[in-house]
Amino acid sequence: MKKTVLVSGGAGFIGSHVTVELCNAGYDVVIADNMSNCDETNYNGVCAILGKKLPFVKMDFCDRGAVEKLFADYPIDAVIHFAAFKAVGESVAEPLMYYHNNLVSFINLLEVARQRKGGCNVLFSSSATVYGETDRLPVTEESPRQSATSPYGNTKQMCEDILRDSVRAYAGIKGIALRYFNPIGAHPSALIGELPRGVPNNLVPFITQTAIGKRECLSIFGNDYPTADGTCLRDYIDIVDLAKAHVCAVARMLDGRMKEEYEIFNVGTGRPVSVLELVNAFEKVNGLKLNYKIAPCRPGDVVAIWADPTRANKELGWKAERSVEETLAAAWAWEKHIAGK
Ligand code: UD1
Repeated sequence: MKKTVLVSGGAGFIGSHVTVELCNAGYDVVIADNMSNCDETNYNGVCAILGKKLPFVKMDFCDRGAVEKLFADYPIDAVIHFAAFKAVGESVAEPLMYYHNNLVSFINLLEVARQRKGGCNVLFSSSATVYGETDRLPVTEESPRQSATSPYGNTKQMCEDILRDSVRAYAGIKGIALRYFNPIGAHPSALIGELPRGVPNNLVPFITQTAIGKRECLSIFGNDYPTADGTCLRDYIDIVDLAKAHVCAVARMLDGRMKEEYEIFNVGTGRPVSVLELVNAFEKVNGLKLNYKIAPCRPGDVVAIWADPTRANKELGWKAERSVEETLAAAWAWEKHIAGK
């Protein structure tokens, strides 16, 4: 029988790409989203890519009754939880809003999931931000977590712990946390992608918006870091590659292949790329010149972080496949698509 996967936050950047890959792999998907940080663009794009309308429930996971109704209405075998606030700076300004939204929604979900007849599998979208500044690179899942530098990062750590403790305590649930490095790019169809509201905080949307003329100039935050070209190093992971890791993790849970009831996987390429290298690659692959300047360091940025993805490679049978160039070409195609060009 086909298994049903609930994707909370399924109308967002990562959730929409994961939905497409889950459907391609033969799962039934139910999307639930409160649309607080997106419009219908990605949901419509998902339906266009798949050539069918997917079940969509507009709801807030902070509303316990709504979560109960969702589980009563659909035979949910696994949940992938993306529904959360994600802006680092905003979380510093509005910590209570972040703690309330990100923790209450996840607790509600676990409360209801654990009571489901037959149990439920829960995949939590975590982040490499949990590692903080670390000098032992690349980071493995065993690398110690540093204390979070923002309420956003803290909610990622806390949700990981809530999942770990719940899995230990309640027979009904199993859990996986995927720690993403820097997800970038867009679907090759250019029908779904990242849609930041206002001025983008993240590098790639800022690059594409500068290239299209929405922003005047990209600021490269710092060029005297102790790296080869002086700019920060990150592990940029293609969004479709990232989405496929979710399919592998869900299959592992649903097929009973987990080795422990709670597992953690890094989802990255294992390849460090500097900000300048990324900018140069964007210019080269898309044949354009980007207006950029060197600006002061951004407070809170770590110098360098990249993944050791060995565990995901071995245990999930997953590997990042797309090159940075392919990913940056897809990001640019998406920016042009939403600009109507
Ligand atoms: C941030 C979050 C991370 C989150 C991720 C989502 C922290 C500290 N960071 O990661 O949790 O999961 O976004 O993708 O919590 N840069 C510029 N100019 C810009 C924007 C960025 O030079 O206009 C540089 C930054 O200094 C950094 C790199 O680009 O070196 C990547 O920045 P960004 O895309 O914001 O991601 P992170 O800060 O790594």
